[in-house]
Amino acid sequence: MNELDALVDSARESFELALTPADLENTKARFLGKSGRLTELMKGMAALSIDEKKTLGAAINRAKQAIEAALNARRQALSDAELQAQLKAEALDVTLPGRQRGLGGLHPVSLTLERIELIFASMGFEVAQGPEIETDWFNFTALNTPEDHPARSMHDTFYVEGGTAAAPNLLRTHTSPMQIRHAVQHVKRHRAALDAGQGMPEIRVIAPGRTYRVDSDATHSPMFHQCEGLWIGENVSFKDLKVVFTDFCRSFFESADLVLRFRPSFFPFTEPSAEIDIQFQTGPLAGRWLEVAGSGQVHPNVVRNMGLDPEQFIGFAFGMGPDRLTMLRYGVNDLRLFFDGDIRFLSQFQ
Ligand code: DAH
Repeated sequence: MNELDALVDSARESFELALTPADLENTKARFLGKSGRLTELMKGMAALSIDEKKTLGAAINRAKQAIEAALNARRQALSDAELQAQLKAEALDVTLPGRQRGLGGLHPVSLTLERIELIFASMGFEVAQGPEIETDWFNFTALNTPEDHPARSMHDTFYVEGGTAAAPNLLRTHTSPMQIRHAVQHVKRHRAALDAGQGMPEIRVIAPGRTYRVDSDATHSPMFHQCEGLWIGENVSFKDLKVVFTDFCRSFFESADLVLRFRPSFFPFTEPSAEIDIQFQTGPLAGRWLEVAGSGQVHPNVVRNMGLDPEQFIGFAFGMGPDRLTMLRYGVNDLRLFFDGDIRFLSQFQ
């Protein structure tokens, strides 16, 4: 390789190594400047013959053009890079993330209530709603729980204005008053037929809703939910209660091999009375008896307070805790989580 080729190569390499325009202009002087190598070579031509001058001159010119071309290419590359860097540094993001509206959803207990209503509706039950502020009559007395009855002490609640000292108004301690309210309406509607000895359509109803007691820990909250059930007719037996409630539990928990136990108990408004326990055969709760409801055959005094003759009408009632059913269904161990309103907890049920 002759010196000129080597010079062009060396210029190309040096230009590539220049990282800024100023660097590049300094480097250029070494090759093309007044005291650069090309100028030196041209000066040295004075001593040569005409022919030699022609050949060498032409070669020097080609080398010069090649070096200038390399210089210009590098200039362009550096200025492009500079522009890119500047564009990048001064870039303005004119986009904004869209405004998000979080999707709401039903509360886990509401999901349970919907589920309960759906299952009982499929078995021919109506759904009734009643007041949360109750009278002493509906909450206690009509349910065979007179003023001095010891069972009242388990239902300490919040008293509100209105009513009388002997019969104050209160926040209902259970959904059982809805048994009386609903039955009385039902009987009123069919009074004429009843009086004519024609009987009436059976009462088949559930009454879900909020209830209140002075109680607060991991499994009790001062406000909680209950769902009452009532089935009254001329030929309704404890067997019907067992069938209905077993079907309900198996549907609710989607577990066909769920086992139920009716454990003798006491409630003033039923006789006989039973607590209903369930037992899962599989899953994390398998093998344990879990209490889910109170139940029983409606007491004759209560049937009478519905406006019906207990000699003719008979049936059963039950009262269950949707909060507890929700805890069992989702494996939640602290009831208070449902009512703290923490969106991180609640959003898990959507
Ligand atoms: N009301 C009762 C309670 O809150 C639960 C209950 C028990 C309701 C038996 C019923 C029943 O309808 O038959 O403890």
